[in-house]
Parts: sequence; C-alpha cells; structure tokens
Amino acid sequence: MTETLAIRARGLERTFRRGAVRALAGVDIDVPAGASVAITGPSGSGKTTLLHALAGLLPVTAGEVRIGQEVPRTPADWARFRRDHIGLVFQDDWLLRRLSAVENVEIAMQGTHLPPREQRQRALDLLDRVNARAFAHRRPAGLSGGERQRIAVARSLANRPSILLADEPTGELDSFNAEQILRLLFALHGTEGLTLMIVTHDTALAARCALQFRMHDGRGRFSGTEKTE
Ligand SMILES: Nc1ncnc2c1ncn2[C@@H]1O[C@H](COP(=O)(O)OP(=O)(O)OP(=O)(O)O)[C@@H](O)[C@H]1O
Ligand SMILES: [Mg+2]
Repeated sequence: MTETLAIRARGLERTFRRGAVRALAGVDIDVPAGASVAITGPSGSGKTTLLHALAGLLPVTAGEVRIGQEVPRTPADWARFRRDHIGLVFQDDWLLRRLSAVENVEIAMQGTHLPPREQRQRALDLLDRVNARAFAHRRPAGLSGGERQRIAVARSLANRPSILLADEPTGELDSFNAEQILRLLFALHGTEGLTLMIVTHDTALAARCALQFRMHDGRGRFSGTEKTE
C-alpha cells in the first residue's frame, strides 16, 4: 500500500530581483499524511519562501505543489485549500489590526458552515488553549509579539486543518508559553493526525519532530516515506 501524502512538491523554484536571488532553487518533497517534520537550515536558505509556496501564497517560478490528491491552480483554488486544509503560522503574524483577538480567530471560519455562535465559542476555546483568553477582546496593536503569536496559532487551528505550516511558531515566546503551544500542536498531531511542518532554529524542537528536512541555498530534497532509521 502506498502511503498517503499530505504534500508533494516537485522542482520548486522561485527567484527574486529578476533572477538575481534564487530563494528556491529546486525543492522536492514528499510529506506523508500525519507526519511531523522539522524544517531547518541557515538563515536565508529558503525556509519561509518554501512555506509560502506550499501554501500557495507565493507563486513559484517553476514546479508543482500537490495537496493531498489535488493540484490547486488558481488563487480561488488556493484560498479554498487553505481554508479547508491548511493552518498557517508565520513570522509576521498577519493579524488584522482593526479586529480583536477573538474576531481574528473567527474570521478564519468565515464561509464555513459553522453558525456564528459556535464560531465564537470555538474561537474562545482556542484562545484559552493558547493562554490568550484574557485578551480575547483586545486588538493586536496593544499586545506583545508573543501574545499576537498565540492568537495567530489559535487562528491557524480554527478550521481543524489537516496540515499545519508553521514558521518559528514559538520564536517570540517564553519557555512556558512555547511549551503550551507545542503541547497543543503535538497533541493534535497525536490525536487527530495533524501533519506538522515546523520551521525552527531550535534544535530541541526539531528533535521533537519525527522527521528532519534541512535546506541549503534554496535547495532540498525530502522524502518522509524513505525511512532512514
Ligand atoms: N520578497 C523578497 N524579495 C527579494 N528577496 C527575497 C524576498 N523574500 C526572500 N528573499 C530572499 O530569498 C532568500 C530566502 O529567504 P527566506 O526568507 O526564505 O529564508 P529563511 O530560510 O526563511 O531565513 P530565516 O531563517 O532568516 O527566516 C534570502 O536570500 C532572501 O533575502
Ligand atoms: Mg524565514
């Protein structure tokens, strides 16, 4: 039986500055559904660019991304895939400044079938789980970087994604809050089979993931289906 892949990418390339910067210079990956993968590599090696490409947030210059069995092609396809399958936590939190914390989590559920009251309840529950319930009704501008990051983690989980793409999700956090976030992510990984792809410079966090993918100069090849140990 072939293992189901959450993400499959082939020949990903992305240049900037009219080709002067090759942020992705050939990436091939197979990520099995339910895997936990640490993405490591030096600063500037293309990790963030890769996550953006895998989420369809950045068009690639060449190559193809498959999510599950499908290849999203249009921006509308990608928007739907992100809403239904992919949770995102980025270095910049991308929270909407006019909305409160709880509204920022709720907005991820717009266009789903969940009634508004249940959206509110789920948003508050998630904020509780990331230790952010106390500032549910405050706007991001009045919050610290770590507080905003916790809201971003809550938002990423709002639609019960099957894949979580996270770029240094605990980078802004003290050890207590970092541990709480990681426990939540790995608990969802364990109980619901959430596929984790976590960019990190933290070797202890990388070691908690079952698989490691190291990038170098925009290049990398990763097949989580080939067990080396
Ligand atoms: N919008 C952009 N315009 C120009 N160059 C860019 C852009 N985004 C990224 N790059 C370049 O692409 C390369 C890869 O950047 P990327 O942000 O993916 O690295 P990274 O591995 O995430 O690094 P870090 O660990 O510091 O976050 C770098 O050389 C970076 O300067
Ligand atoms: Mg980065």
